[in-house]
Amino acid sequence: PLTSVIIPAAGSGTRLGLDQPKAFVDLGGSTILERCVHGVLDADINAEVVVVVPADLVEHAAALVPSAVVVAGGAHRSESVRAGIAVSGNADIVLVHDAARPFTPPRVFRAVVDAVLAGHRAVVPGLPVADTLKRVDGSGRVLDTVDREPLRAIQTPQGFTRDALIAAHADDSGLATDDAGLAERIGIDVHVVAGDPLAFKITTPWDLRIARDLVQEVAR
Ligand code: CTP
Ligand code: MG
Repeated sequence: PLTSVIIPAAGSGTRLGLDQPKAFVDLGGSTILERCVHGVLDADINAEVVVVVPADLVEHAAALVPSAVVVAGGAHRSESVRAGIAVSGNADIVLVHDAARPFTPPRVFRAVVDAVLAGHRAVVPGLPVADTLKRVDGSGRVLDTVDREPLRAIQTPQGFTRDALIAAHADDSGLATDDAGLAERIGIDVHVVAGDPLAFKITTPWDLRIARDLVQEVAR
């Protein structure tokens, strides 16, 4: 394959608050994880798919997504990503894509891959921020209003040359919330392409409600 896609799916889904890990939650007949993997395959980017899940769910996940390589993750997202990198092949382009973004359209995958092929070592999808943003102190007092014009809300898939992703993860002090954040810290330029509202992350019960509505809408 030209590309490896690593899907971190080893989180517990604390903010969702259900009794099973988030990637294994049902969305109208198939799990978030299955929908996510099928979304990657539908994108037609000639990708090998590596899925990273909680250690006790490796066999279960392998049965759900037989086209993917499945490995056990770690306590933090970045550890899970590294477990995926370790078993991925030698593709020159590696994408990291949250399992929790199962509606990400094919166009976003292609835009990220195209930007890496065009020479960017690290690429992220981003959206303008709609709300007014204010900085507040611990007591809730507003300190100032932040100019939102140059801000972007960053999604996945995040794409890297293989060497850039490996270098980024070689120096992980545990603070970055995404892979591009690790790349930034070692001085790699990160390029933003257009994200998509459908690439939203299922994080809270509200997000799950939206996700289930979307599945219903497609089924009708
Ligand atoms: N993830 C992972 N390994 C971890 C933590 C997170 O593979 N140790 C994955 C999640 O499964 C998810 C993605 O990283 O697909 C984004 O993380 P997040 O939305 O925070 O998911 P959870 O960590 O599961 O949720 P929460 O933070 O609410 O517990
Ligand atoms: Mg988390």
